[in-house]
Amino acid sequence: MSLPKAVIFDLDGVIVDTVPAHYVAWKSIADELGIAFDEEANEALKGVSRVDSMKKILALGGLKRSDSEILELTTKKNELYVDIISKMTADDILPGVIDFMDLLQHQGIKMAVGSSSKNTPTILKCIGLQDAFDAIVDGNQVTHSKPDPEVFLKGAIKLGLSPEDCVVIEDAISGIEAAINAKMKCIGIGEQDVLGKANVVIKSLSEANLDLLSRL
Ligand code: BG6
Ligand code: MG
Repeated sequence: MSLPKAVIFDLDGVIVDTVPAHYVAWKSIADELGIAFDEEANEALKGVSRVDSMKKILALGGLKRSDSEILELTTKKNELYVDIISKMTADDILPGVIDFMDLLQHQGIKMAVGSSSKNTPTILKCIGLQDAFDAIVDGNQVTHSKPDPEVFLKGAIKLGLSPEDCVVIEDAISGIEAAINAKMKCIGIGEQDVLGKANVVIKSLSEANLDLLSRL
C-alpha cells in the first residue's frame, strides 16, 4: 500500500464549518451594496482570498470601487465574520476530522494546513488545534490566492517534502485547482458534480481512511 508522506488540509469547510459564517457576512455587505447574492454565488468564493472575493461580488453587481473603498468593505466584512467565528469551539470541528488526524498521526503521516484565510490562527486557537499540525500556511503568508498553487507548495517546503509526497483535502473548486497546479493528489469534500476535478470526492472526512489515501 503506497501512502502519501503528508496530508495538507484546507481549513474553511474541511476542518471547521465556517462556510455559513462567511456567507452571512458577505450577504450583509452585498445587501448593503444592493447586489443579489445567494449560496450559489457564495460557492464561487470558497478558497478565494478576502479581497478577491469582494471583487467578485462587486463584479456580480456590475459595480466598481476604489482600493480604499474595497479595504473599507472587506474590513467591515471581516468584523462581522470574526464576531461569529470567535465564538467557535471544538464542537465546530467537522465530522471525521479528529479521527482521521489520529489515524494519520498513528501512521506517521505528517499534517499541514493550507488555507487562504488570514483568520487561520484565530480559528485554530478557538477550536483547540493550534498545535496539532507540523506546518501551517495561511492567507498571511501567500501573495497569490487559490487556484494558484502557492499555499500548497509553501506547505510542502515547510514540511521538507516534494509536492508529489503530499495529498490535499479541499472543499472548494479553486482549492482543487490549486492542488492540481501544485501537482498534488486531491480529495474533494462535498458534491461530485461540483468537485469532479478531484481524484476522489467524499461527503465528509468520516469516509476517509488509509485505503482511500493509498488508492489516489
Ligand atoms: C478561505 C475561504 O479559506 O479563506 C474563503 O474559503 C475566504 O471564503 C478566504 O474568503 C479568506 O478568508 P479570511 O478569513 O482571510 O477573510
Ligand atoms: Mg475551504
